[in-house]
Amino acid sequence: MHALSDEVRSAGKRIALVPTMGALHAGHLSLIDHARAQADFLVVSIFVNPLQFDRDADLDAYPRTWEADSALCSEHGVDAIYAPTVPSMYPQGFATKVTVAGLGQGLCGAHRPGHFDGVTTVVAKLFGAAKPHIAVFGQKDYQQLKIITRMTADLDMDLEVIGRPTLREADGLAMSSRNVHLSPEERAQALCLRRALDKARELAQGGERDVETIKTAAAQVVEGAPLARMEYLEVVDADNLAPLARLDGPARMAMAVWLGTTRLIDNDALN
Ligand code: PAF
Repeated sequence: MHALSDEVRSAGKRIALVPTMGALHAGHLSLIDHARAQADFLVVSIFVNPLQFDRDADLDAYPRTWEADSALCSEHGVDAIYAPTVPSMYPQGFATKVTVAGLGQGLCGAHRPGHFDGVTTVVAKLFGAAKPHIAVFGQKDYQQLKIITRMTADLDMDLEVIGRPTLREADGLAMSSRNVHLSPEERAQALCLRRALDKARELAQGGERDVETIKTAAAQVVEGAPLARMEYLEVVDADNLAPLARLDGPARMAMAVWLGTTRLIDNDALN
């Protein structure tokens, strides 16, 4: 990958990278299509990164669909798939960890110890190998996007991080590689995430400023789905992710909800 990126760069071409863990769906494809339009050479990385999984069962169950992924990449004009092996990414003696302080502490960071250090460490390595001019991520992982943007600025990584809107199924469920694990009943009740976000948005846009009121109303929507178990639901400053008590500036509601053994996340702007 290093040699290929050097060659492409020395030909004066612009490289875009879309980092993924595979199991590509329409959400990934929208990132790939956006990146394709911005660059001369498009790299998609496919690497199920053990460092960012806090539970072995989740790592083992993560869908691996190489044949379908590589076919989709060809159909969408991807120039190279970077799919390193675990031992080549983390050989014996690997000892470095990239940590972004602050932004990673709340929301998913509070419930998945070490997760964001695993993400930033692997993304720093992917950037190092693919040497992209731009890298495209989804806003579904809003906290991840903020953390990676911070890391890129703090470590003078000379590239632009682009965040793209969440793609949703027709009924509003955010697209996710984990949706395949939902039973039909869980799939139906998973709509409580989108409905809770809609409820919060409706209140905020109707003039409600008290965050506790908004969170309570949104939580009631999730409680109405008997198979759903809320992990967290938080309203934060859209920029620095600090929890808010009142809506005085751009705010985002973010949530994680379990349906059986599947953990789903979603978020949206409230104003
Ligand atoms: O969002 C993901 O799929 C992963 O966290 C990423 C950015 C590819 C790093 O492994």
